[in-house]
Amino acid sequence: MAIRKIIHEGDEILGKKSKKVTEFNDRLHSLLDDMADTLEESGGVGLAAVQISVLRRIFLVLETNVDEDEPEILLECINPEIIEVEGEQVGPEGCLSVPGKFGIVTRPEKVKIRAQDRDGDYFEYEGFGLTARAFCHESEHLEGKLFLEKVERMLDPDEISSEEGEED
Ligand code: CO
Repeated sequence: MAIRKIIHEGDEILGKKSKKVTEFNDRLHSLLDDMADTLEESGGVGLAAVQISVLRRIFLVLETNVDEDEPEILLECINPEIIEVEGEQVGPEGCLSVPGKFGIVTRPEKVKIRAQDRDGDYFEYEGFGLTARAFCHESEHLEGKLFLEKVERMLDPDEISSEEGEED
C-alpha cells in the first residue's frame, strides 16, 4: 500500500477518457489499496484512478451517510455506470485535482450506479446527497471532465471557510 501523487488541473492526463477494466487481478487490488490510502490521506470523499495518472474506469467514493456510531464505507467502483437519477441539489463542490477552488454545481439528489467490485462481481448502489454528488463528479473524471465545466458560480475565498464543500 502506498500514497500516490494526485495530479492537478493543467495536466493533460485529466482530460483523457479512461478505459474499461478487464482484469480483476492482484495488480488491480494493489491499485485499489493505493487509491484508498491516497484518498484517506487527502481527506476527500472521492478519487478517480485518472487523478493518480491511471487511465482506468475506477473510482472510490466514501459513503459518509452512515449512522453516527458506524464507520464510513469506502465504495470501490469499477467500470461504474449511472443507471438512475432523481431530484436535484445545488451546492458547493471541489476536487482534489483543483486544490483550493470551490464552485456551486447542480447535481441530482439521488444517483444509482451499477459497477463491478474488485473481484469483477456486479453490484448496484444508491447514493444520496454528497454521495450522489460524488458519483456524478467521479463519473465525469472517467470521461476526462472536471467539475469546473459544470460550475455555475465559483466561490470567493471568504465564502469557502463558511461554506466549504467536500473535495472529490
Ligand atoms: Co475530482
